[in-house]
Amino acid sequence: MVNAAIVGVGHTKFGRATDKQLQELAWEAIKEALQDAGITQRDVQFVAVGNTGRWSSDPLPAVVISEYSDLCPAGSIRVEAACASGSAAVRAAYQTVASGQADIALAVGVEKMSESTNLQVVEMIGRAGNFFWEFEQFGLTFPGYYAMYATAYLHRYGAKEEDLAAIAVKNHYYADLNPHAHFHKRITIDDVMKSRYVAWPLKLFDCSPQTDGAAAVVIASEKIARKLTDTPVWIRTQAVATGTSNLSKRSNFLSLDSAVKAAEEAYKRAGVERDKAYKYFDVAEVHDCFTIAEILAYEDLGFVERGQGYALAREGETYKGGRIPVNLDGGLKAKGHPIGATGVSMAAELTKQLRQQNPPERQADIKRGWAIAHNIGGTGHYAYITIYTLDKPPTG
Ligand SMILES: CC(C)(COP(=O)(O)OP(=O)(O)OC[C@H]1O[C@@H](n2cnc3c(N)ncnc32)[C@H](O)[C@@H]1OP(=O)(O)O)[C@@H](O)C(=O)NCCC(=O)NCCS
Repeated sequence: MVNAAIVGVGHTKFGRATDKQLQELAWEAIKEALQDAGITQRDVQFVAVGNTGRWSSDPLPAVVISEYSDLCPAGSIRVEAACASGSAAVRAAYQTVASGQADIALAVGVEKMSESTNLQVVEMIGRAGNFFWEFEQFGLTFPGYYAMYATAYLHRYGAKEEDLAAIAVKNHYYADLNPHAHFHKRITIDDVMKSRYVAWPLKLFDCSPQTDGAAAVVIASEKIARKLTDTPVWIRTQAVATGTSNLSKRSNFLSLDSAVKAAEEAYKRAGVERDKAYKYFDVAEVHDCFTIAEILAYEDLGFVERGQGYALAREGETYKGGRIPVNLDGGLKAKGHPIGATGVSMAAELTKQLRQQNPPERQADIKRGWAIAHNIGGTGHYAYITIYTLDKPPTG
């Protein structure tokens, strides 16, 4: 294995981009990432595009984006891992470099959800899982799936709807400080509690929105990374796991088994002690597609004991300066969740965090130089855990 690092990042404004085509959105992010890395299209040897894309027009997004961005004839691939498609793109680009097949690869995540109506998008996402046994037979939607986890969690641990709301309040606060975020609106617990129910106990402000946007990162081999930058952000390790498609086959609704498994594997490879995991990382990006998902993530990553995740949020321990700052960019909840872009956006955000390039109000204190991304596809159908570090991995 060759060591590989992120050497350039690009990010569009998330929101509604009805005036742009998919490839234009992608190019905005790609152009910025190439400039940040100090390279041109001719230096890129491989392109991985994360895009779920069932609601947008082009069935071959990697090709359309490559042509528009003048990246042909570099090899390309489009990858899908539901809401973790962006992390799958990072994986494809990272592995291409780590295996020695390219010195520079580009991971791009892009989604244009506004090409379909909200109801069509709700239906398409609702099919993500087991179409026949869950969507077709019972009409479950994604807010519905996560509502089952929220119901089980509140019941088991005695948490309140206000505890879920605390996640939304934090993430809207940080999104307001992030010019790339979908929403720039600070909210209170009361605002969340008064918002309309989408799937009990989840209300409008417990949900991530439907968003358009793109992000890109340039990944280079150690040899090239050293020439391009003084602060490469190394991909220390990435671990992946898959959950059952049928939720009826899950052991409980209090945790995502795939996330636990992927975290265990990543921690083992990186030498992280699970029960002290929060001490290893200066900052985390976790998959908060619904507020309950962020609380489960705290526990699945071992940042806190089982059943204590809601208290961590309530006590403000996941704000900047707390035990472990989480989603200082606004998270999926308020930065937005353009499905295929999210994992790449997490990689871009953590790179900027580790380089200390964010405005002070949402810049974590970087002491150890380690960060973690937790990106989930579906309801734990896919789990991608990626550890980024300023110090070079020992292998290579
Ligand atoms: C929650 C959801 C159903 C709301 O959709 P909707 O009822 O059609 O809402 P609309 O688009 O009509 O928006 C109505 C208002 O609410 C706002 N809004 C929409 N979604 C929002 C959200 N998630 N959080 C906060 N505000 C939201 C809109 O900006 C709009 O505000 P305005 O009236 O001031 O312009 C939709 O955002 C959704 O499907 N979210 C989940 C997406 C998902 O499942 N992703 C995958 C997760 S793994």
